[in-house]
Formats: sequence, C-alpha cells, structure tokens
Amino acid sequence: MSTDSAQTEGTAERVTIDIRRPIAADLVEHPPGCPFDPAPGIVERRGRGAVQPFRLLTGITAYLVTGFDEGRTVLADPRFSADKLRNREATSFSADEVAAMGAAAERGGCPVVSAADAPPRSDGYFVFMDPPEHTRLRRLLTGQFTVRRMQALESRLREIAAGQIEAMRAAGTEADLVSSYALPIPSLMICELLGVDPGDREAFQHNTSVGTNVEASEEEKAVAGGELYAFMQRLVAGKREDPGDDILSGLVRATDPALTDAQLVDMSLVLLGAGHETTANMLSLGALALLTHPEQLAALRADRSLFDDAVEELLRYLSIVQLGVTRIATEDLTLGGVEIPAGATVVLATPEVNRDPAHFPDPDRFDVTRPRSSHLAFGHGVHQCLGQQLARIEMRIGLEELVTRLPGLRLAVPVEEVPVKNEMLIYGLHALPVTWA
Ligand code: HEM
Repeated sequence: MSTDSAQTEGTAERVTIDIRRPIAADLVEHPPGCPFDPAPGIVERRGRGAVQPFRLLTGITAYLVTGFDEGRTVLADPRFSADKLRNREATSFSADEVAAMGAAAERGGCPVVSAADAPPRSDGYFVFMDPPEHTRLRRLLTGQFTVRRMQALESRLREIAAGQIEAMRAAGTEADLVSSYALPIPSLMICELLGVDPGDREAFQHNTSVGTNVEASEEEKAVAGGELYAFMQRLVAGKREDPGDDILSGLVRATDPALTDAQLVDMSLVLLGAGHETTANMLSLGALALLTHPEQLAALRADRSLFDDAVEELLRYLSIVQLGVTRIATEDLTLGGVEIPAGATVVLATPEVNRDPAHFPDPDRFDVTRPRSSHLAFGHGVHQCLGQQLARIEMRIGLEELVTRLPGLRLAVPVEEVPVKNEMLIYGLHALPVTWA
C-alpha cells in the first residue's frame, strides 16, 4: 500500500491512498540531518496565519491549524467531532471516487465515500467517539489509571530499564537503542498493566514489534496482528475466569456499563496502540536530542531534579504526533478568522502549535531549563491523552537510567545516518545506533 502518494493499481484504475497518512510529504518529512525541526512545508507556512486551507492527497481541502490558541479551541469545542473519523477509514478509492470526494469537499461536503467501504465498527474504540458514548467508556479506564497503580509501576519500571541496560552491556559495547531499550520498555509496561503472564510476554512483544517494523511485509504484519487479536481474546477470557489486580481485570469487573468481550479486546488494543509506539518514539528521539545537545545533557547530569522539566520540554520540542490529531467540523464555523465548512477535516500541526512564538519564547530552542508551560503534545479536552502520567514516568525513568548507567553513551553513526520515521504520521526513529565504550 502506498504511504505518501496516490498510486494506480493495475488496469482496474483503483487509486490506493493510505488514509493513515493522506498528507503530502513536505508537511511531515523532516529535513535531512535535522531530525528535530518541523517539516519544510510547515516551516514555509509560518506567518501565513494560524489556520490555513491545504490539500490532502485525496484531493480534499482540509484546514491546518498552526496557532496554539486555535489548536486548543479545536480540541475543547464540541463543534469539532472525533466521531466522524470512523466513517472515513476506507483505504482504497477509485479515481472517480477521489474526484467526487474533491468535488464534494469543494462544496463543503463531508468526504465520506460510502459506508460499505468502512470496516465494521469497533465498539470499544472510544478514541473515535464523541460524548456521551466516549465519556462512558473513557471513565472506566480513568478509574483504572490510579495514582497508586502508577506509583507501583514506577519501581517496576526502574527494574525493567536497568534490566534492559544490563542485557545491552552483556551483549557488547554497541546496540540499537530502539529495539533493545525504547520499544521493550513500553511493551513490558503494557504487559504489567494488562496482566499478561510473564511466560506470554515474549510472544506478545514479538507480535507488537512486527506491527511497527518497517522491514516486515504486509503479510507478516497481518499474521502478527491476527495473533495479537487472538491473544487478547484469550487474555480477556482468562481474566473473566480468574480476575487479578490489573487494569484488564478491573475492566472485566465494570458494571456501568458492563463491557462485552469485543469491547474489552478493543480497549486493550487501544491502550497498546496509543501507548506503545508513541512512548518508544519519545524515548529514542529524546535520547537522540540529548546526545546531540551535550550542554543540555550535562545540565541534566549535574542536576537530576531537572528531569521532569526535561520531559515536558522534549514533549513540546519533538511533538511526535505531528499531524495525527484531527477533527471534523460539525457545522459551518469560523476559526482564527478563517471560515470552515461543516464536514471539513481540521488537522492540528502539533509541531508548529507547540512552537507558537506567542506562547513559547524562542520556540525552536531545546532548553531543559525552560520554565514549564502547557503544550499540546498530549492533546487537550475530552480526548486528552489518558496515559500521559504513565508516559511521563516512562520517559523520566527511561532517560534517567540510560544517561546515569551508561555515562559514556554516544552516537555510533553521524546524526545524518540515523534512520528517521519520515513515512509515518507519528514521528520517531527506526533505529538509534549507540555505543558506550
Ligand atoms: C509520550 C507518549 C505519548 C504521546 C505523545 C501521546 C499523545 C496522545 C495524544 C496527542 C492524544 C490525543 C489524541 C486526540 O485528541 O485525537 C492521546 C490520546 C490517548 N492516549 Fe496517548 N500519548 C502517549 C502515551 C500514551 C500511553 C503510555 C498510553 C496508555 C498506555 C496512552 C493512551 C492514550 C489513550 C487511551 C488516548 C485516547 C484518549 C481518548 O480518546 O479519550 N497514551 N495520546
């Protein structure tokens, strides 16, 4: 499947567009050798206004939000819906359909192809729901992310991070920090949260990592995805029979509303999908930011109380969810002085929103001592990241253990050779070769 452009399939003239990334490359691909700067297309739009129309690869006109205040409005105002996104998960359109979508969008219509093109609705996928349906399901999970549970995870997390570093040292003096550290940490954390038995963790980790491995074929990804789904079904059945102290068992016990097996599987997969690769990307890209800004790393080593601020600054500076936060306008409205028709897609340019000079002085500078200020890296409003406390702990402990236990840590290749995830909406690194010899 195409990742960044439309392509014609054989003689049938079907145009395949990966709706996971229907956005032109210049808006998401980072300049060579500058892995932290927003994409050139975003930088070029600076000064053109906080809200700007732009074209999706489907031909549809959408609206890019680059201003902080306007971004927060989109996420707080119920006239911007997350629910409408469910209708547009079709991945394959005929050339005529693409043209029709473009024409419909020009008239201000919602660019839905047809209900038949969308996959079956997933009942536990609350990320794409609006209140009150969203509120009912989300409340069940917020009740599970308790301070007590997060504190208990903190000491386990330190053990996990230390164990991964010991394994890296035992294997030599070089490693890929993504596969040996950044990915296993959130994966093992999700295992703890969902109550996956230690004996099943290797298979679980394998199947989750195939999904994010750029070298895996579509077929391998489909097999791993199928095994993961079947695994979650068995896990849910096991928790129904013998509930424990984990989040999934807590959801199994829920009565208001009681959840079906399909909803429980969906919600577990939401947690995995939302909390696995995001945290892994922040850990690896965060480590790269520190290794390429030695004065910032030295400041952290000199004063470890700065780690909490450093995590907030990394979240702002890296803004890995890039153009992944989107909404649909439910009525004609005006945002930042721009008229937006009902049905139009609104896309938050998070890297730019989090570098709005009206909100962050000297915004392109990475500074771990920057006074804390709210950023939108975890979103805002009813869909604000549910795992943000966990993500913060994972980043703080993950980075702290790394730079403390490996004092000689440095890049094993020039920064230009570090493979970045330019082809994905959620930004990060495919690999991070490091050495500590
Ligand atoms: C640094 C890592 C992370 C980043 C940058 C991040 C970012 C985000 C953002 C921007 C949203 C809002 C999406 C929207 O409004 O459309 C979100 C939602 C969400 N995140 Fe995270 N996230 C991270 C880690 C995690 C973790 C560790 C978990 C859980 C294990 C998690 C679970 C969720 C869930 C369940 C939602 C959906 C909430 C809802 O729709 O009500 N995230 N995240």
